[in-house]
Amino acid sequence: MKVRLAAPAKINLHLEILGQRADGYHELETVFQCLDLHDEVQVELTGGGGIALACDDNDLPHGPNNLAWRAASEVQAVRPRCGRILIDLRKRIPVGAGLGGGSSDAAAVLRALQRLLPTPLPAEEVEAIAAKLGSDVAFFLRGGTAHALGRGEQVTPLDDLPQIPVTVLKPPVPLATPEVYGALNPTDRGPRQPLGVDKWKARLRQAPVPLFNRMTEAACRLQPAVGELLAWLGQKKVPHLMSGSGSACFALAHLEPPAGIQVWNTHFRPRARLDAI
Ligand code: C5P
Repeated sequence: MKVRLAAPAKINLHLEILGQRADGYHELETVFQCLDLHDEVQVELTGGGGIALACDDNDLPHGPNNLAWRAASEVQAVRPRCGRILIDLRKRIPVGAGLGGGSSDAAAVLRALQRLLPTPLPAEEVEAIAAKLGSDVAFFLRGGTAHALGRGEQVTPLDDLPQIPVTVLKPPVPLATPEVYGALNPTDRGPRQPLGVDKWKARLRQAPVPLFNRMTEAACRLQPAVGELLAWLGQKKVPHLMSGSGSACFALAHLEPPAGIQVWNTHFRPRARLDAI
């Protein structure tokens, strides 16, 4: 039995840091938005045991360092007789970009296994596994547009926004999330109060959607190419922002890119199309 589904990319329309916790993580208020740009994830359950992961990107780990592999391993820990889990990843989402590709692949494995297991796991158990795997994974269980607090794992789904055109632009430099958090200034880290989900519901009815990312300056200090790309986007007079911890940026319009910048023309992806290839 096998299931093949999309693992969409995300952007953060808003990313504010509320404070730093004793465990080193940062409290966030963020608004996630799924994109049509997606990886493809196939999951198969066969006889036997263990996990095998194939991926068309040889630079990515094929074992426990791959979040998709770890998602399968967490499910096997609670369903030890579920069989052998075979995962096939077709990567389209750039890595080190702040687009959530690894987290989305892991969530797609969880969604696929929920369809394949004779007795699916209770929703709370899947959510607990997702939160353990990474801060963004819980969002990708439902996709669409969502507000999140905590590390990003306390997710409230919001109504779909229109299928707005998006250009994702990636400078030729990756950024590692922990490094960007590490490069924040003390003033970047808060403390601040969240606006809250009700205020965000009202704000998202505005056009254009308000865009903000507290991590931008830290990312630009680490990789000046991000700042150069944002300056170029500023001249285009279109709504734009860096996504997550970077290095990808996005514009809410379709654009011809500057030299040396990879682009993907895509759209906001509604919740009902989360799995659609
Ligand atoms: O949760 P995830 O594994 O995606 O986080 C990667 C790293 O990003 C963490 O180890 C931490 O350094 C940083 N992070 C953070 N606060 C968050 C999310 C991530 O400090 N809310």
